Amino acid sequence: MTHDEYLALVAELTEHDRRYYDAAAPTISDGEYDRLAAKLRAIEAAHPAWVVAWSPTQRVGHTPLSGFAKVVRPVPMLSLDNTYDADDLRAFFDRVVKGLGGEAPRFSIEPKIDGFGIELTYVGGVLTLAATRGDGTIGEDVTANVKTIRTIPVRLREPVDVVVRGEVYMAKDVFARLNAERLAAGEEPWKNPRNLAAGSIKLLDAREVAARPMLAILYEVVDGERIAAGHLASLARIAALGIPTSRENQHADDWDALLAAVTAWQARRDALPYEIDGLVIKVDSFDQRAQLGVTSKFPRWAIAYKFPARQVTTRVKQLELNVGRTGAMTPVAILEPVEVSGTTVSRVSLHNWDQVARLDIGDGDRVLIEKAGEIIPQVLGVTERAATPRWTAPTTCHECGTPLVREDDKVVLVCPNRLQCPAQRQAAIEFFAGRGQLNIDGLGEKLVAQLLTTGLVTDVADLFDLTAPQLAALERFGELSAKNLVAALAKAKADATASRLIAALGIPHVGGVVAKAIAGRYRRLSALVAAADATSSEALVEALTAIEGVGEVIARAVDGFVRDPHARAVIDKLIARGVDPEEPVAAVVEGPLTGKTLCVTGTLSVPRGQVEARIVAAGGKIAGSVSKKTSYLVAGADTGKAKLEAATKHGVPVIDEAGLEALLAGG
Ligand code: IVH
Repeated sequence: MTHDEYLALVAELTEHDRRYYDAAAPTISDGEYDRLAAKLRAIEAAHPAWVVAWSPTQRVGHTPLSGFAKVVRPVPMLSLDNTYDADDLRAFFDRVVKGLGGEAPRFSIEPKIDGFGIELTYVGGVLTLAATRGDGTIGEDVTANVKTIRTIPVRLREPVDVVVRGEVYMAKDVFARLNAERLAAGEEPWKNPRNLAAGSIKLLDAREVAARPMLAILYEVVDGERIAAGHLASLARIAALGIPTSRENQHADDWDALLAAVTAWQARRDALPYEIDGLVIKVDSFDQRAQLGVTSKFPRWAIAYKFPARQVTTRVKQLELNVGRTGAMTPVAILEPVEVSGTTVSRVSLHNWDQVARLDIGDGDRVLIEKAGEIIPQVLGVTERAATPRWTAPTTCHECGTPLVREDDKVVLVCPNRLQCPAQRQAAIEFFAGRGQLNIDGLGEKLVAQLLTTGLVTDVADLFDLTAPQLAALERFGELSAKNLVAALAKAKADATASRLIAALGIPHVGGVVAKAIAGRYRRLSALVAAADATSSEALVEALTAIEGVGEVIARAVDGFVRDPHARAVIDKLIARGVDPEEPVAAVVEGPLTGKTLCVTGTLSVPRGQVEARIVAAGGKIAGSVSKKTSYLVAGADTGKAKLEAATKHGVPVIDEAGLEALLAGG
C-alpha cells in the first residue's frame, strides 16, 4: 500500500458517500461499503501520518468542544424581505424592473428550505470553515459539526477557493423517526425539523450531531467561482465541484412565468422530502444584482415568497367527545377558529386519551397548532395553561350511559353498545348515506337525527321505505325537500354498486378497497350472505381469504357481521327492498399512474370514491393500507396516525389533494 493508493481509497469512499447520501443512488452494497471503510480505518491506524483531513473517517470528531469560536464578517450576511401574496410579489417585480430601467430580468425560483443557514469556505478545495449566520455580522464556527453532514464535501473535485451559503436541514422522515424514538423514551417531542436541525448544529459533541443525520443544500455562491452567466450557472458550477445544490431550482423571464411557477409550487410543497416555508425569488444576473444594490437590511434583488403559516396558537374552548360508528370515543379540542395554511381550523382531533394526558390540557388553555406536511391539524403543545381542571378520560358513554371499555391497544375508549347507542346509530346512518358510500343527497346530520328521534327510521334499510308525505310532515321540512329526498333515495339505489353497498354497511376493517375485492368475487351482497348460509364460518373465512387483499382479520370480521342477527336483519331488509346492486366489471387503463399504487385516506374535498375512481382512470391501483409496495399515501383531513406512521416506516411519500392533482396531470 502506497500513500497514493491510500488517497485513491479516500476518493473512492467519498464518491460512494456522495452517491449514497446526495444522489440516493448507491452503486455498491452496504456490505461492500463497510468492507472498504474497514480497510481505510486499518490503513489509517497503520499509517497515522498519512491521514488527510478530508478522509471520511475524519468527519466525526472525538473530543467534545467547550464552545464555538466567533466568526466576524466584514460584510454582514443579509436576510430577505418577505412577501405573502401575488400582489406583494408583483410590487417586487415592478420595483426590480424599474430599477433595471424597464427591462424584466431573468429570475431564479428556489424552494425556501426551512432549516438553518450556514456559510462554507473552501480554500484550495478544502473545507476550512463552516459558520452560522448569527446576527449577520458575528456568527459561530460550527465546522466540526457541519463535517458530520455526509453530503457536504470536505474536499472539492478541484482545488479552488469558494465561499457558498446554504441551509442545513433535516429530512421529514428522519425527523419523524427521531421524534418517534424520543416519544418512546418518554421525552417531549421536537416541534419541527427546523428546531431540531438548529439545536443539533449547536451541540458541542460531534458524535451526538452525527446521530442526528442532516442534509444540506447550498444556494448562493458568495465569493469565487461566480460565473459571469449568472447565479443559476454558478450553482451548476459548484454542483460540478461536488457541492449539493437544489434540483428544484427554476427560472422565469417574465411576470406570467414567475406567477405560474410560484402558483404551481403551492401544490408541490408537501411532495418534497423536506419542509419548505416558501420560495426565494432572485435576480439571476450578478451585474443586475449590483445595479439594484441592497438596503440596510435586505438585498433589493431577492425576496422571500412565504407560504401561509403552518404553526399558530389559539385558545381551546372545550373538549368534545366524538362517538364514531364503531363506538370509539375520540377526544376533540374545540378551538377559537384560527387560520392555518390557508384554511380555518376550529376543531382538532387529539386522537386518544394518552395524548390528552400527555398534553395536560384543559378548557381555556392556549395551544400551538400545526398543519404540517402531515396535512391534518395537530395540537403540538400547550403554550399557556388556564386555571381550569385538566381533561380526563370519561368512564361512561355520554350518549347512552354504557360503561366504556378499552380497545386492545389500550389508548382507544369504546362504547360497546354498538347497535343501540343513539350516537353510533346516527353515525352509522350518516356513514351509509355519505359521500363515497350510497351518496344520498340531502341526508345530512340534522335530518338523520330527526328521522331517528321521530322513529321513522331505526336502521339504514328503513330509509328506503320513506315516503314524501311522511317526510313533509317533519318539522321544518318542506314538500319540495321531501320529494327531493325520495328522489335522491331512488337515485342512490339505482346508482349503487355492490362494493359501495358493502363498504357502506360499516363492517369493521372493510373500507372501499376491501369491499371492492369482496364484491369482485361475489358480485352481489345477496350472493355473499347466500354463501354464508350455505357453509360454515370456517369455510366462509377460507373462501374470503382466498381473495387478494383480504386477510384473516378482515375475513373473520365479515363472517361475524353476516352471521350477527341484528346486522343480518338489516341486510335482509335491504335486499327485500331491492337494494342489492350488481358489481360492474372493471377495465384495464394506461395513464400517468400506471404501475403506481396509491392509498387514499382521511376527509377530502370530494368523496373518496370519486378520488379513487380518478386514480383508477389514470391507470393507478388502490390499496387499502400502506405497505412498502405503496407508491403514495394521499392524506386528507383526519388522517389516522397509523397510516402516517406506516408511511414513515416504509418511506412512502405523503401527499395531499393538490399533490395528487399534480400526479394526475402527469407531474
Ligand atoms: S438566499 C442575500 N436562497 O431563508 C440572500 N435563502 O429569509 C441570502 N433560505 O437567511 C439568502 N432557502 O437561511 C436564499 N434558496 C434560498 C434559501 C434561503 C432558504 C433561508 C436563508 C435566509 C432566509 C431568509
